[in-house]
Amino acid sequence: MLHGRKILLIVSGSVAAFKALMLVRLLRAEGATVRAVLTAGGARFVTRESLAAITGEHVSDDLWAAESEIGHIRLARWADAVVVAPASASRLAQMAQGLAGDLAGCVLLATRAPVLAAPAMNPAMWAHPATEANVALLAARGVRFVGPGEGAMAEPESGPGRLAEPEEMAAAIRALFAEGPLQGKHVLVTAGPTQEPIDPVRYISNRSSGRQGYAIAAALAALGARVTLVSGPVVLAAPPGVAVKRVESARDMLAACEAALPADAAIFAAAVADWRVAQEAGQKMKKEPGADAPTLTMALNPDILATVAKHAVRPRLVIGFAAETENVVEHARQKLARKGCDWIVANDVSGDVFGGGENTVHLVSASGVEDWPKMPKEEVAAKLAARVAEFFE
Ligand code: C5P
Repeated sequence: MLHGRKILLIVSGSVAAFKALMLVRLLRAEGATVRAVLTAGGARFVTRESLAAITGEHVSDDLWAAESEIGHIRLARWADAVVVAPASASRLAQMAQGLAGDLAGCVLLATRAPVLAAPAMNPAMWAHPATEANVALLAARGVRFVGPGEGAMAEPESGPGRLAEPEEMAAAIRALFAEGPLQGKHVLVTAGPTQEPIDPVRYISNRSSGRQGYAIAAALAALGARVTLVSGPVVLAAPPGVAVKRVESARDMLAACEAALPADAAIFAAAVADWRVAQEAGQKMKKEPGADAPTLTMALNPDILATVAKHAVRPRLVIGFAAETENVVEHARQKLARKGCDWIVANDVSGDVFGGGENTVHLVSASGVEDWPKMPKEEVAAKLAARVAEFFE
């Protein structure tokens, strides 16, 4: 609940700005006080009057009007949390650069409160390396993200870039105030399969659903951690308050993990493809009449876990997963040494673990083996997150 919390909402320019009005409703229904700052771009999509009516507060939009009372400092100090929703590509770039040319920019520099950004933009703008770099920089500085989601856009095209739904944004705001034992800790989590391209239309992958890794990310966030989830292609939504970086290949996953460092802990739940096709074909491979089937030459993928475990800025706690179909614990012990991690969560995948809802795991570390009973993946996640919290106590 957000009873008594003071939320400063910065509304920047996006056609999705109407959702900010719905967000204000939800936050006020939970007992929060909401004040809004409307940027010049935001004012193209929602009016100052509608924001004032919905928040029940004065709306600030002019740096120089506010400056008669050093308004940006007052607003920055007043807020328990600053929420930028929608956060346009331009606003994210300004935040990354620390530009303070308007009231929103000044408040964002002056505040010491947690900042949550809910990006909204065209999928091509979201995928642009400039936006990616801005988001990575902001995340490394502690800015939290919610969304964007995938789906229909204002233009007749779809893809990631859609502003998170008001309920998701409200959940992410609640997560900002989660006073858990992992408050102040940054945890990197990998999840899902990787896709290794054969040609522009074909790939090699595996049956990982990503459910266990997503559940772990959610459980860590619920204990107050700042979580970066590097995810292969899955159909799951980002857990509330978790920054998700979506990747396809193992090499992209490694690059995203290295970009997310430093971290206090790292948990590698992804089912990374061991091999990739050595030479990805630039064009779709043709099936010529009468010709033999092609032979694919494979190359070894980088081991992401092993690379992070011996990284110059190694997380203090590195946890790997081991999916085995026989001698589960013995293989996990060997893997612990080989990969240089601190704990291994070993699971028997001879059953229906991939895509299933339950998991039977053994927690293997230098100090011994714990056998956990079969339980839902969410419970495995909660138990593991609690163990991580104990480690940092
Ligand atoms: O060697 P194996 O694939 O069984 O190791 C599994 C563990 O290593 C998992 O934690 C998995 O996420 C991680 N891994 C990785 N990069 C790879 C292969 C596995 O991070 N290329």
